[in-house]
Amino acid sequence: MKNLIKAVIFDLDGVIVSTDEYHYLAWKRMADEAGLYFDRDINSALRGVSRLESLNIILSRQNRHAPEADKLRLMDKKNGYYKEYLERLSPTFVTEDTANTLSTLRKRGFMLAIGSSSRNARFILERIGYGDFFDTVVDGNDISRSKPDPEVYLLAAKRLGILPEQCIVVEDSAAGIEAAFACGMRTAAVGYAAETGCGDWNFDKLSELVLKVV
Ligand code: BG6
Ligand code: MG
Repeated sequence: MKNLIKAVIFDLDGVIVSTDEYHYLAWKRMADEAGLYFDRDINSALRGVSRLESLNIILSRQNRHAPEADKLRLMDKKNGYYKEYLERLSPTFVTEDTANTLSTLRKRGFMLAIGSSSRNARFILERIGYGDFFDTVVDGNDISRSKPDPEVYLLAAKRLGILPEQCIVVEDSAAGIEAAFACGMRTAAVGYAAETGCGDWNFDKLSELVLKVV
């Protein structure tokens, strides 16, 4: 199996950098202001899914409906707060374990990609000093269906010119793991997804991946 793998596709938020916490803080701030209930449990269900689907989940948890115009306003508010938090990012936000894992995989000849539902992915990569690092970046601007639909990963494999079964996906979300399974990619779960044990592999640290694929 090891020799089959040619590329590693990384989710961004909560895998390469802890921006998942900024998503939580921004949703919480918006929800408190709008009188919507929001907690970390609800936040976990938003991992990997688009901004609109995230808001729909928050609203459905309290049996609330909102006209499209209100939804746009709430999403804009949340994204404004989120972007405010993103200004804090710098290259020091990439842990040594993550930086070493990426450089080791690159040295060993693997193609490396980002497969993220976020429309802020490129901005984040620039802020943390990885703007030009990945062979391809597929993000929320490139897709019409977010995870658990496999579109984001299939597009990454297509751009790399390889088959889905030649890819490993690294994810912190249940939706992302489901998306990878749906298109026949191997899965390495980290963070929240690893705690639920939903990946083919479930890692405490990203660097455990190196032992599996190299
Ligand atoms: C994913 C996050 O990476 O991006 C989700 O896990 C988020 O929580 C989604 O909703 C969309 O992000 P953005 O930055 O486009 O609002
Ligand atoms: Mg994530």
